[in-house]
Amino acid sequence: MTASKTQELISRADASLSPNYGRYPIAIERGEGSLLYDLEGKRYIDLFAGFGAPVLGHCHTEMVRTVTEQACKLWHVGNLMHTEPQVDAAERIKRLGFGGLSFFSHSGADANEAAIKLARLYGKANRGQAAGEWGRYKVVSATKSFHGRSFATMGATGQDAVRQGFEPLLPGFTNVAYNDLGAIASAVDDETVAVIVEPIQGEGGINIPDSDYFKRLRAFCDERDLLLIADEVWTGCGRTGRVFGHQLWDVVPDIMTLGKGVGGGLPVGVMCARPEVAEHYSVAKNGKVTHATTLGGNCLAMAATATVFRVIEEERLDERAERLGAGVVERLSSFAERCDAVVEARGHGLFIGVELDPDKLPSATPAVADVVKTLHKKGVMVNASKTGVLRLAPPLTIPEELLDEGLSAVESVLNGG
Ligand SMILES: Cc1ncc(COP(=O)(O)O)c(C=O)c1O
Repeated sequence: MTASKTQELISRADASLSPNYGRYPIAIERGEGSLLYDLEGKRYIDLFAGFGAPVLGHCHTEMVRTVTEQACKLWHVGNLMHTEPQVDAAERIKRLGFGGLSFFSHSGADANEAAIKLARLYGKANRGQAAGEWGRYKVVSATKSFHGRSFATMGATGQDAVRQGFEPLLPGFTNVAYNDLGAIASAVDDETVAVIVEPIQGEGGINIPDSDYFKRLRAFCDERDLLLIADEVWTGCGRTGRVFGHQLWDVVPDIMTLGKGVGGGLPVGVMCARPEVAEHYSVAKNGKVTHATTLGGNCLAMAATATVFRVIEEERLDERAERLGAGVVERLSSFAERCDAVVEARGHGLFIGVELDPDKLPSATPAVADVVKTLHKKGVMVNASKTGVLRLAPPLTIPEELLDEGLSAVESVLNGG
């Protein structure tokens, strides 16, 4: 029997790729909006948008047009020159956000790394009561959070499994319960400089804080001169029904980080800080470069980022996400009343979690991972968090009929179909 194109590719992958990932036996060849097609020609409705990155959908015509035009013009000159796409992207983030200044990198982890380094510079310049030579350098974050896999961000990430094997870790990180201001307050000492939190926890299972949590946290940070870093790698770019997730809670962070959707599928990370905070990276002030990356803000990536924000704004995709997402949560909540396997459906915008009861799943899908695999077989892409929550994060442009078709498949699988 001849091997399928997929099997052939898997053999080549096994022989040539570092085995970091546990991949499904699926090989995707092309994408179109909210649809994906594998090498065998099978169609999938994409309810997870590549971990949220192709936020406008796959091969959105405006993304293809602007990135192609840029590709024929200029790719990269380095950050000692000015380029228009980078300024265009930064201006959009400044205007749609809180007037912050952007530093561009390639991933969520390195955006957070840039934020943590900036916080350390701030903590040296604003030592407060810190007695030691390092000034204030400690960062408090939440358990079940995810901030990346670099050395600093592993420390901030509140999941032991992410850190195991990599000890000794970078000092200065404490993880305390999410949505618990008291826990943060007791973790803060004279050497603490920042708190990093997700407006809604993504990898932790779509965990939504109380509506006043961020306001109270903001007041606490102001009182203690702590920088509030909003990790918006998941919640940025319209995903939660607001352009940026902190806007859901009506607070302004000192630093916001972006990743995933901000490149629309190209590798982009953003560290955006209030001007008074960004100032601590100033070459003019420090007399040297204190943080940089060669390819950050390259023209192709920036053409993509500027287009992501332009299309979100022109088509009000944040509002669309809010409207569609409210319908999905309502539909799945009423489904939960009829289906024992579903504990709860929750979310904001098109950032939705369906918490499952592993003991009540149908016999055909005894584990949450089986639910995901069965949906793949039925042609629907979803994901499950390590905490057993089914996660839905389709492109913000998903046509309503496809969303409906995808949700019907989810319901059918959870009913044992
Ligand atoms: C909230 C959050 N921050 C940071 C990261 C790290 O981003 P990246 O995988 O691009 O390094 C992730 C990745 O899932 C994330 O969810």
